[in-house]
Amino acid sequence: MKSFIMNENVTGYIYGSPVKTGIILGETTFKEVPLKVEVKAEAGHSFIHFDLTQRDRVFGLGVNLGGMNKRGRYYRSYCTDDALHHEDKTTLYGAHNFFIVEDDDVSTGYFIEFPSMITYDVGFRRIDEFDIEIYGEDFTVYVIEGESIKDIIVNFHKIIGKPYVPPKWGFGFFQSRWGYETQNDVMNVYNTFKEKDIPLEGIYLDLDYMEDFKDFSVSEERFKGFKKFSKTLKDDGVRLIPIIDAGIKIEEGYNIYEEGIEGNHFVLDEEGKPYVAAVWPGKVHFPDFLKEETRAWFGDQYKFLTDLGIEGVWNDMNEPAIFYDEKSLEEAVDAAIAAKGKNLGVFPFFDLKDKFQNIGNKDEYYRRFFHTVDGKRYTNEELHNLYGYYMTKSASLGLKKQLEKRFVLISRASSIGMHKYSGIWTGDNSSWWSHLELNLKMLPSLNMSGFYYIGADTGGFGGNSNGELLTRWMQLSIFTPLLRNHSAIGCVNQEPYAFGEKITGFNRELIKERYMLIPYIYSEYLKNWEKGGLMFTPLSFEFWGEEVMGAEDQLLMGNELMLAPIYKSNARGRYVYLPEKMTEVSFGTDEVTMRVEKEGLNHLSYELDELKFYLRRNRLFPYTKPSMNVKNLLLDELKFIGYVDEEAEYELYDDDGESFGYEEGIFFKTKVKAIKTEEGYDIQVDNTNPNIKKISLTLIDSENEIIEKEVQV
Ligand code: GLC
Repeated sequence: MKSFIMNENVTGYIYGSPVKTGIILGETTFKEVPLKVEVKAEAGHSFIHFDLTQRDRVFGLGVNLGGMNKRGRYYRSYCTDDALHHEDKTTLYGAHNFFIVEDDDVSTGYFIEFPSMITYDVGFRRIDEFDIEIYGEDFTVYVIEGESIKDIIVNFHKIIGKPYVPPKWGFGFFQSRWGYETQNDVMNVYNTFKEKDIPLEGIYLDLDYMEDFKDFSVSEERFKGFKKFSKTLKDDGVRLIPIIDAGIKIEEGYNIYEEGIEGNHFVLDEEGKPYVAAVWPGKVHFPDFLKEETRAWFGDQYKFLTDLGIEGVWNDMNEPAIFYDEKSLEEAVDAAIAAKGKNLGVFPFFDLKDKFQNIGNKDEYYRRFFHTVDGKRYTNEELHNLYGYYMTKSASLGLKKQLEKRFVLISRASSIGMHKYSGIWTGDNSSWWSHLELNLKMLPSLNMSGFYYIGADTGGFGGNSNGELLTRWMQLSIFTPLLRNHSAIGCVNQEPYAFGEKITGFNRELIKERYMLIPYIYSEYLKNWEKGGLMFTPLSFEFWGEEVMGAEDQLLMGNELMLAPIYKSNARGRYVYLPEKMTEVSFGTDEVTMRVEKEGLNHLSYELDELKFYLRRNRLFPYTKPSMNVKNLLLDELKFIGYVDEEAEYELYDDDGESFGYEEGIFFKTKVKAIKTEEGYDIQVDNTNPNIKKISLTLIDSENEIIEKEVQV
């Protein structure tokens, strides 16, 4: 083991000879430092153990099931395509090996830089023990310290680098569905949004748009005149965001396949031949994204889409997902043939059934193909969690080269490090209330792992959604940077207008409200880019006390808001714990009202046709007029609500919404300060945003007295 220091808060310990992942940035100074975490090795695996007192909590692990506090569950960190996120599932699509352990009142952060399987038993088998098993001997453990949990997170973000920043239009509302089969279907969606007066920023195109599921192709038959179509929509402020999958169809004459073979870009099997797996198009090869030349080659393919006017893409199936491989299908078929005419008892029958039922994403597939990094050959299993990350890095480099401005990019598979290149959606959730609750709980741990452009399939991907669930889900999702309604083929349609006039009306209003919130969401995003930390924060990271320790169904957003969404059916309200006095805000396109609520347990009445949240004391919160898309979003008459007893300040960050100027610190900044005086409020404005002409404020104090103010800028 070799130890090193990165800075006063981060020490590291290298075991064996880890592969370079590109996740950690910055210099390391090798130096003998006291061991802050003990690692034991046995039979090729490595083990870390923590004792937990009854009150210690564990946070982090990114995209995963479970609560904000990860105790009481077992997790596997191994990017996996599994469309049914039942209670007993242990892994989802990402590998986010950053976590924080509380030991009495001292918390410490850990990051395990290792690209293969790690398991975490967080007080699951034994309530007071936290056991980590690393499936290898070559890895680095980073120990991150800080004065508070929030501080530890900021210190971690400093070593993994700043997150991807989408263009401003990426913060609009997007509609998606697997099953918009033709251009006409897409046109109908666009027209219906218009007809129903519902704002729309763009439509995600699922694999229906492709010719035979071939990446970088458009079906001539179903999407004829695609370029013109995409231009017509874009001129109206509506973007198309097509999907790209990891597997390349094996087909003579298909240019990507042929170039891939010729350039030796595909991963190889044991015999040195391109590995054959099956995904959507049937048999495919996988590009070897671990190779720089392949990343450059694949990245250049996105030109096909940018030439069609595309400025956003979603990368999918990049765990990589495998439906079956030739060997396993053959074994299953042979077993079925051998069973013909036999009288199978229960266990032989189960064995046979499993051969087909569990044929997807088998562990052994990932041992059947190889990557070479720095001259050393690895199975995919050994580097598994880097695959989606590097596919997305490739896409990001390609899109940046083609567009020379910001683009929307999200990926399903991920590992920490990929946050520099794209956002993520949380994969194939279901139209279940429990998944709305999961969405709420997962937001802080995604931020902890560095991902900010995040959102779930609103309304639920699998299963049949309904108007109530969709509306309640929207009441949460309108706060997430990525806002997309997406569903699977075969399920009922769940567009905002799919459930009758009443629900259409509620959703229209919510989407318009989303546009009113964009100045704040965007500003908080840019601030987080600059400063690190969390956009979504568990209450207990900021407040102290028994009541907040386990409060997992409320969230702080930015420094200003507290969200308390409804995640149960037939609810007309819920209990909310206020760690301090806050203002309940009822937010509407016509009217925004405020009422100060006492500290402690409160009942919040929250009907389906409302949008409610809390504004913290001595805070100001900006918003603007509704809009049909970001292109037409105006900040000229910026509004603020404030709950101010002494003084409050908000600094609104904004920029041109599309350039990389932010990397050089080019922002428009508007600092607004409200100071309570004997006569009312003194307002100070310091503004560099040319779009803002007037600022009006509605301010409330703890006596529930409301004062309106207006400032010309
Ligand atoms: C995967 C994606 C899902 C998509 C489907 C078809 O399941 O996660 O979002 O709709 O593939 O492309």
